[in-house]
Amino acid sequence: MSDLNPAVDALVRRSNRLGSDPRNTNYAGGNTSAKGTETDPVTGEDVELLWVKGSGGDLGTLTPSGLAVLRLDRMRALVDVYPGIEREDEMVAAFDYCLHGKGGAAPSIDTAMHGLVDAAHVDHLHPDSGIAIATAADGHELTTTIFGDQVVWVPWRRPGFQLGLDIAEIKEKNPQARGCILGGHGITAWGDTSEEAEANSLWIIETAASYIAEHSRAEPFGPALEGYAALPEAERRAKAAALAPTVRGIASADRPMVGHVTDSEEVLDFLAHAEHPRLAALGTSCPDHFLRTKVKPLVLDLPASASIEDSIARLQELAVAYREDYQGYYDRNATPDSPAIRGKDPLIVLVPGVGMFSFGKDKQTARVAGEFYVNAINVMRGAEGLSSYAPIDEAEKFRIEYWALEEAKLQRMPAPKPLATRVALVTGAASGIGLATARKLAAEGAAVVIADLSLEKAQAAAAEIGSTDVAVGVQVDVSDAAAVQAAVDATVLAFGGVDLVVNNAGLSLSRSLLETTEADWDLQHDVMAKGSFLVAQAAAKAMIAQGMGGDIVYISSKNSIFAGPNNVAYGAAKADQAHQVRLLAAELGEHGIKVNGVNPDGVVQGSGIFASGWGANRAAVYGVEEQDLGKFYAQRTILKREVLPDNIANAVFVLCSAELSHTTGLHIPVDAGVAAAFLR
Ligand SMILES: NC(=O)c1ccc[n+]([C@@H]2O[C@H](COP(=O)([O-])OP(=O)(O)OC[C@H]3O[C@@H](n4cnc5c(N)ncnc54)[C@H](O)[C@@H]3O)[C@@H](O)[C@H]2O)c1
Ligand SMILES: [Zn+2]
Repeated sequence: MSDLNPAVDALVRRSNRLGSDPRNTNYAGGNTSAKGTETDPVTGEDVELLWVKGSGGDLGTLTPSGLAVLRLDRMRALVDVYPGIEREDEMVAAFDYCLHGKGGAAPSIDTAMHGLVDAAHVDHLHPDSGIAIATAADGHELTTTIFGDQVVWVPWRRPGFQLGLDIAEIKEKNPQARGCILGGHGITAWGDTSEEAEANSLWIIETAASYIAEHSRAEPFGPALEGYAALPEAERRAKAAALAPTVRGIASADRPMVGHVTDSEEVLDFLAHAEHPRLAALGTSCPDHFLRTKVKPLVLDLPASASIEDSIARLQELAVAYREDYQGYYDRNATPDSPAIRGKDPLIVLVPGVGMFSFGKDKQTARVAGEFYVNAINVMRGAEGLSSYAPIDEAEKFRIEYWALEEAKLQRMPAPKPLATRVALVTGAASGIGLATARKLAAEGAAVVIADLSLEKAQAAAAEIGSTDVAVGVQVDVSDAAAVQAAVDATVLAFGGVDLVVNNAGLSLSRSLLETTEADWDLQHDVMAKGSFLVAQAAAKAMIAQGMGGDIVYISSKNSIFAGPNNVAYGAAKADQAHQVRLLAAELGEHGIKVNGVNPDGVVQGSGIFASGWGANRAAVYGVEEQDLGKFYAQRTILKREVLPDNIANAVFVLCSAELSHTTGLHIPVDAGVAAAFLR
């Protein structure tokens, strides 16, 4: 039983090969299947099974657990009870009654096509080259011209049981065919062996691609548009960073989104040519594409040289129009039992000369939406090169976007984490309290930027938290205004914007008044007092442009309240930071930005401040071993507990969480209880 069936082994390997080349299918797009025999553990007799990629999941990384396993006889018996196209969706629930054993992954809508087609191995893919033919106005004729009788044209039909029946019939009537082009959608290929199916898939994809390369018009997107060419790289990055917060605000009017910026050759070339407004308005075609990109993008209709102010003003007008247009699309197509409208904001925003902003509920989803629009651009280029691009019509798009089965999939999604969609920038996050905070915010669902003096350490800390979809490291000296602006720019370019800033960077030199040099004073005030001012200023500018509120948290200190010897520069800088919390809470409240602080004390573990001399100094002063300093501090507290970096991180999280949505200007002591530092 536990031995992998050879058919499954071949299927998984083939799927991984096909799925790892983006020319063959989009991320998580398409599905593959194999049919084979196993012994039924109940009867001891042979049973014919269908293994097919389940709902969700990506071919490139498919494993056996991503396959749905169905009994072929029962699956095929559904044909006898099929009530007709009007009720084809009911067949999806019926698949559950065909499962073998525990059934593996949930069967997808494409299961019928795989089961009903009489071939041992079937691939259904979304290659750009194949969809270009599938969306060409004369796709049917092109299919015959390019492939002869080897590939059959199937007019557009929404995926489902009927499409499966259609393709099964085509295969039966065209024994010579290797596969078909699915109008408006993609390709399906088959074979008696896994090798044959794979070879047929690749042959269709490559034959279509070479035909396009040889026969395409010179300028599929029309002549170059004066003033719409790509800006030089540094300029377009700067413009993208300046526009990003506004664009994210536009994309987040109904619900907050994380963003991704793409300035690839494909996108810049599309926007630099005359036909892009017409083509963008026609919208994407492959169901997989527009479910992630919305039917059409928002396109800024200004040249690359347009100023930031003019661009922002026009984007805001276009956003209003986009929302009205989307409402119109919903109203024209919705029926009484359609799911409620899901949000009217664009998921793709195109800015000539600059690139594309794409959005999603997290960075991975936003990045993939961008990839899908690049797929759509490739499709449009191919279709326009040979013929004219003719995607499926609006009503069909609506039937897919608001399909009850699609809605059910969305309802099954797990509840988002508390900080999902929030973009956090934590300074001094390569070590100690900052690192613990970055970890905590990421664990609660935020996308995190780790900013610190050393790029290497910042990137290493980020890599330890997760992929660049979760955390990225950037270099910053918070006492340098230009460097701070660059770090905020890097944040908005990485995740579309910024919502949550933690002013944590700091250092401590324990010196008496007489020993404190002017340089000691300046350094601590530059990093902590001035540094947090600069970071708050640059981040608040982006937050105000987004119009999505925000949180700024200062890691101040018990020493902002408590007065003791040998601490004049550090304590005064901390008191400065503490008052910034109150001043900015008062000033930024009208933008929905909350400003709060945390007052830690005695966090020895993991702290670079303690490791670099301060700890030894304190230990000597108190006459204890340096490694016992944490425990020594614990004994001085009311709760007699050692304060750890995680305790500070938890306080930051609570301040930013929905539970404290009505709190601003507050400091939370996290010091295990120090009466001399009580706030009053
Ligand atoms: N450890 C404690 O007991 C304690 C108590 C109260 C307050 N704090 C405050 O907590 C914060 C973090 O302290 P920690 O104990 O984790 O120390 P840490 O030394 O482990 O971390 C501080 C980080 O800030 C970075 N940094 C220093 N100067 C910078 C600059 N100019 N630009 C960017 N990054 C810079 C450092 O490289 C380091 O990674 C500091 O503001 C500190 O004053 C700490
Ligand atoms: Zn498909």
